[in-house]
Amino acid sequence: MTITSTSAAVIDGKAFAEGLRARVAAIAASFEQASGRTAGLAVVLVGEDPASQVYVRNKGKQTLEAGMASFEHKLPADTAEADVLALVQQLNADPAVDGILVQLPLPAHIDEDKVIATIAPDKDVDGFHVINAGRLAVGQAGYVPCTPLGCLMLLKDRLGDLSGLDAVVIGRSNIVGKPMAQLLLAESCTVTVAHSRTKNLPDVVRRADIVVAAVGRPEMVKGSWIKPGATVIDVGINRISTPEGKTRLVGDVDYVEAAHVAGAITPVPGGVGPMTIAVLLRNTVVAAHRNAGIALAEGAI
Ligand code: GUN
Repeated sequence: MTITSTSAAVIDGKAFAEGLRARVAAIAASFEQASGRTAGLAVVLVGEDPASQVYVRNKGKQTLEAGMASFEHKLPADTAEADVLALVQQLNADPAVDGILVQLPLPAHIDEDKVIATIAPDKDVDGFHVINAGRLAVGQAGYVPCTPLGCLMLLKDRLGDLSGLDAVVIGRSNIVGKPMAQLLLAESCTVTVAHSRTKNLPDVVRRADIVVAAVGRPEMVKGSWIKPGATVIDVGINRISTPEGKTRLVGDVDYVEAAHVAGAITPVPGGVGPMTIAVLLRNTVVAAHRNAGIALAEGAI
């Protein structure tokens, strides 16, 4: 592609997430004053998937750093589905638990949909329960999946009012693409959801003021697809091999190319990635207030 002289602003998700976690910690402390108890997050991990173990360790650490209680339940990979469901029901009934997260993926013999459906919707801080997907679709207060909500926070921080902007979401997963599209629609964007069957994807992306890439294909979105000045949010985290025989993380967007055309872009790593756990902690402290019947000012976090 022809390289132009422009250079995108880098959206620092790591710094934004640190600020969000500090705000969550302050609110968690005031919740403790008001309620006489600590907000709590329970995390369920089944099996020994190394990436999941890293996520769960980081969640536990950051939950404690935010002054909240962390309850970790690590179960062996061969745990029966009925035992996982029983644990979720026990956590639903536990007043010290405000939020429940069951780490995905689950081992193949466990039905993920069944497990998610068993989580009490008002403790579903991942926003995966169909009740919360429905609440998001119709504009009712609920819980929104952490990664797309984090993307929206970065977009609003960068752009302010999003109304009337053309947004293209690439990817239609239940965890990122679909809720991202709902969030952008609620902000009065004109939203296109593109996916593997979309015809002429480069031209579709070229119309967008906002591009959210969440497909899991390394560097698929090229710089020549980006409208000059657009804001690019890269949700992809892909590990690729380098010619030197090492590995490195890249997003779904060709960062070097896109950074010459975009107005602003999230890097990988250090963009969207750090937002997910920060938003999880935010959802948990919101759940604590709702579960305890204590008001939390709209837009406080
Ligand atoms: N696995 C990878 N990311 C996530 C997440 O955000 N929530 C859950 N429950 N599992 C995951």
